[in-house]
Amino acid sequence: MDVFEAIKTRRSTRRYKSENVSEEQVKKLLEAAIMAPSGGNMQPWDFIIIRDETQKKALARAALGQMFIASAPVVIVVCANKPRTARRYGDRGAEFYCLQDTAAATQNILLAATAMGLAGCWVGAFNDEAVSQVLKLPDYIRPVVILPIGVPAESPKMPPRIPLDELVHYDKW
Ligand SMILES: Cc1cc2nc3c(=O)[nH]c(=O)nc-3n(C[C@H](O)[C@H](O)[C@H](O)COP(=O)(O)O)c2cc1C
Repeated sequence: MDVFEAIKTRRSTRRYKSENVSEEQVKKLLEAAIMAPSGGNMQPWDFIIIRDETQKKALARAALGQMFIASAPVVIVVCANKPRTARRYGDRGAEFYCLQDTAAATQNILLAATAMGLAGCWVGAFNDEAVSQVLKLPDYIRPVVILPIGVPAESPKMPPRIPLDELVHYDKW
């Protein structure tokens, strides 16, 4: 699958088959993640891999009760390691670059998953403190994305996109 096909066919998928996602597959996803660009190549990302049922359910509750998260065989939580980028970039690194960097890593995971016949859903609606507590994150680590991943059991239609001609501005706003 080429990159354009992966971009076009990736869909937020919330129903998964009971089939497992192997450690090898997870490694491949994470290798794609760390190929993402990052400000100054500071790579301010860490990944928590969750397979434990109790942890998955606790995470789903912390994500405002989005229980489909717990139904995925594996959940990757993409975290921003603020001091790793603040070391060079101060507040701009800790508050801004680290969110862009982890978002880029997340999209790489989703595109790689699509190319591998897997699917997931970018979950951003969660209680930061509750997620940090469940995962025992140190206070300098910010959870950015919860990513349930599995073999898709649904084929969602693409939600409509705003046409490009309403979005593109030439030379000025
Ligand atoms: C920042 C962000 C936060 C999101 N949070 C959630 C979420 O909490 N729960 C959910 O089911 N989907 C969530 N989504 C997925 C969006 O609903 C989805 O990307 C959007 O509807 C477009 O559909 P598509 O991903 O299939 O193109 C989120 C996506 C992004 C980028």
